[in-house]
Amino acid sequence: MAEEFVVTPWDVKGEIDYNRLIERFGTRPLEENLLERLRTQAGDLHPFLTRDIFYSHRDLDWILDEYEGGNPFYLYTGRGPSGEVHVGHLMPWVLSKWMQDTLGATLYFQLTDDEKFLFRGFDTLGESHHVGVENALDIIALGFDPAKTKIFFDSDLIRWMYPLVLQVARRITFSTVKAVFGFTASNNIGEIFYTSIQTVPAFMESAVQGRSVPCLIPCGIDQDPHFRITRDVAPGLGYPKPALIHNKLMPSLKGMGAKMSASDPSSAIFVTDTAETARRSIMNAVTGGGATVEEHRRNGGKPEVCPIFHHYAYFFEMDDEHLQEVENTCRNGDRLCGECKEELAEKVLAFLEKHQARREEARDRLDDFLLKDGDLPELESA
Ligand code: TRP
Repeated sequence: MAEEFVVTPWDVKGEIDYNRLIERFGTRPLEENLLERLRTQAGDLHPFLTRDIFYSHRDLDWILDEYEGGNPFYLYTGRGPSGEVHVGHLMPWVLSKWMQDTLGATLYFQLTDDEKFLFRGFDTLGESHHVGVENALDIIALGFDPAKTKIFFDSDLIRWMYPLVLQVARRITFSTVKAVFGFTASNNIGEIFYTSIQTVPAFMESAVQGRSVPCLIPCGIDQDPHFRITRDVAPGLGYPKPALIHNKLMPSLKGMGAKMSASDPSSAIFVTDTAETARRSIMNAVTGGGATVEEHRRNGGKPEVCPIFHHYAYFFEMDDEHLQEVENTCRNGDRLCGECKEELAEKVLAFLEKHQARREEARDRLDDFLLKDGDLPELESA
């Protein structure tokens, strides 16, 4: 059944089989022994890690070797500013914040206004930049430490990045990007070039410090193809290959195989939703419940295919005990979908209220976080 699914940085379709994706992409499952090493260093594990939401990695063992040996890493993640941020986007950012708090990591956060212009999200670069500023508020609202967090727009930092971008671009052939991304002769040449821009921040701290600084990239598994290329070109440039830790994607409220998209406001919880919109999206969501109340009471529901349950598990219920209770009472038919929706709505509205207040406060603090051309030391030999 529904075996076919597509996961690329620009297209996610169908019901994703995450274990098969590990095989397709050639990443490693995030295994218990690694998590225990991480727990020892961090003092704790974020529920994203114990719940198998972050579930795959590349070279996390090396990051831990280095960390344990006294060579800490920095974090790199990013966002293509194409519209409003939904809670699925927040997952790698929240993990980054946790790693900043527990392991002291500096974070470089790339806002790819150029990407969203090239891939036709917007008719002008300015529009994408504008959306990026709004998105930056959502990042800052998560509580990052300004002393350890550098958010930047590609279009602002390009002069500094350009020599490195060229070094990277020179080492990537058209046949590589065709094979990795499925590009054809009708893709515009900016799209073909773009991955060299997403690669550079993986080398940034090493370039700034003039020595090898390990880099860890928390990201949705859909972004992995870019970083396969990054990892291939790194040694030739004298930089360490970045490590990755990948999360599963938050499913759409419209169903496990449906799309989450800014053009469909009820497909996801957007962090800027009004209470009314968010409530409506939840109430209209597809669930894993029975077709009728009688059937549900008799056979129970299926949390594993329920977008509402995934919203609990992936973001809104960090208490393991309560989550387990929700799951058990759904499966045995005691808990009806309406109850789950009401309870989730309450949690979501509380989150939105807090988040939206924080993102407004962040407006005055943008300059504490935004990296501008001229802020980084000039590169000596790029
Ligand atoms: N391409 C990503 C997007 O469309 C944005 C991005 C840039 C990114 N650099 C990244 C995502 C590093 C994760 C990690 O959203």
